Amino acid sequence: MKRTHHCSELSIENIGENVRLIGWVHSIRDHGGLFFIDLRDREGITQLVFDPRRENLRTVHSLRDESVIEVRGKVSQRPADTANDRIATGAVEVIVDDFTIHNICDVLPFPMTDAKAESVSEDIRLTHRYLDLRRRKNFQRLRIRHRATCAVRNFLDKNGFLEIETPYLFKTTPEGAREFLVPSRLNPGMMYALAQSPQQYKQMLMVSGIERYYSLARCFRDEDLRADRQPEFTQIDLEMSFVDREDIYSLVEGMMATIWKEARAIDVKIPFPRLSYRSAMDRFGSDKPDTRFAMEITDFSDLFSGSDFKVFSSAIADGGCVKAFNGKSLADISQGEMKALEDVARTLGAKGLAYIKAERGQWKSPILKFLSDSEKNTLAEKLNVEEGDLIFFAAGQWEQSCKILGRIRTECRDIALAKGKINIPSDMFNFLWVVDFPLMTFDDEKGHFVATHHPFTAPVDGDMEALKTHPEKVRGQHYDIVLNGTELGGGSIRIHRPQLQEYVFREILKIPGDVVSDRFGYMLKAFSYGAPPHGGIAIGLDRLVALLCGTASIRDVIAFPKTQRGVDMMAQSPCSASEKQLRELHIKLAQ
Ligand code: AMO
Ligand code: AMP
Repeated sequence: MKRTHHCSELSIENIGENVRLIGWVHSIRDHGGLFFIDLRDREGITQLVFDPRRENLRTVHSLRDESVIEVRGKVSQRPADTANDRIATGAVEVIVDDFTIHNICDVLPFPMTDAKAESVSEDIRLTHRYLDLRRRKNFQRLRIRHRATCAVRNFLDKNGFLEIETPYLFKTTPEGAREFLVPSRLNPGMMYALAQSPQQYKQMLMVSGIERYYSLARCFRDEDLRADRQPEFTQIDLEMSFVDREDIYSLVEGMMATIWKEARAIDVKIPFPRLSYRSAMDRFGSDKPDTRFAMEITDFSDLFSGSDFKVFSSAIADGGCVKAFNGKSLADISQGEMKALEDVARTLGAKGLAYIKAERGQWKSPILKFLSDSEKNTLAEKLNVEEGDLIFFAAGQWEQSCKILGRIRTECRDIALAKGKINIPSDMFNFLWVVDFPLMTFDDEKGHFVATHHPFTAPVDGDMEALKTHPEKVRGQHYDIVLNGTELGGGSIRIHRPQLQEYVFREILKIPGDVVSDRFGYMLKAFSYGAPPHGGIAIGLDRLVALLCGTASIRDVIAFPKTQRGVDMMAQSPCSASEKQLRELHIKLAQ
């Protein structure tokens, strides 16, 4: 090795030793003849002292920040008044005898200190992602990701899982996200699809008798991108035979506790609480509730069913509901903030966002005149309304009203956090399971049911009969794991009998018979040759690591992420293909 030590290692123990260090020039200070250079490698920083009057050190003048140098010298104690106790190596410095310049760095496209770099646009940082990753914060994120994946591999190995790779070049299947298609040169006109997940292959591995499979699988989905969505992302994907839901819960709880312990030295409390889909929606307005703060939603349909306020009573008469929550101590939000909340509600289809402010001993609201004293008293009592509070209402169909208030609730969380009215500790990790989802949801546009999770999910045993008569009432054996308001993963116990699987495809999801045999025929056939009962889950690794690192965007924990427009700024991908390539692939571009 070119080095004897990393830049994090030298201390007063090493005084007098001759050492070799190699790394990047972090900063240069010219102090009346002597040059002080902070040398950085991935582990830390050490101060170097150059005397440029020495013939062999004169070229130190040519160095710029981020140049790469290798130095040989002696470790020396820093004068007491210059010691830096903020860094591990702050008591010593290396008096340089000799050095080699490996690379002089050009003018940098952006400043490299965390504070300054973060004010630069993300596009510029992603264009020069190799530089951005040099920043300590980013290196640490990649290291946490590495520790998390090591913990996962060890944990699953100890629990009898085999790591098995499955194809990325798969085939297109109906349902699910939009896919990336890959033309096949050898099969003119035919397409592969990049796998959205290893779902079907892992089920085949169960038919193969593997019993416990896992993979850190790359998945490809051509979706509209957001902070928590990339077109390619990684899942901790696993599948087990001969298990029920409880087995999966306890396995995943153990895995999460191990990851948090090994990557962050944090103890996570297990088992995780469970919430039914219905109560998650009722209480938090979301199927991925953030339970780190209160502001729970209450149903007031009984109270308002005979109300003089027609907006409320007619919503209930139409089969809907009236719900409300107390945005604690937010009565002083600005008009702009209120308008923004109303706009959010409207984008979710709300006709309005009724509210009441409790200010200076009075209630203020455009709807106050419609409310009776007893209605007001019940609201005050049930929502624990105090001076400075702000109540929001939604009236309408159940699911929509829940979603509107759920979204306003998280907006209120962000406003309250920004104003310092609530505090959510950064080491608070509220895991929970959401269970008892409906197996199917009716899609008004399509005019038939669609699978809530995916079409391979098994119904709850006791609900099997209702599948024929009331598909909307059937609960699925599906579970989501949620952390701090993010859907971390989802899975299910699967259908393993070919007759039931075919019935779901054809009779419930209304997939035409020829499409079923074309797309899923092999699966139905496999299930007819001794398929074990099985189930599994996939955890989004990028989301998990982002939460472990306390960052809001999964782009921060992916070495080379794509922008919201799906572009790799550094490599400039996607890009055009040559005429020749297209011809070989039997593709003609529309003008
Ligand atoms: P699902 O589609 O719910 O399940 O995906 C599982 C988890 O993967 C993560 N995820 C994403 N992360 C980043 N970018 C994306 N575009 C993206 N899409 C999904 C989420 C999500 O919870 N085969 C089933 C699992 C199973 O049933 O075993 C599946 O893929 O964290
Ligand atoms: P309107 O009588 O339509 O002017 O509505 C009176 C108040 O109720 C306004 O503040 C609206 O924003 C609000 N509002 C109207 N429809 C709804 C609804 N479905 N849910 C909650 N608030 C609503």
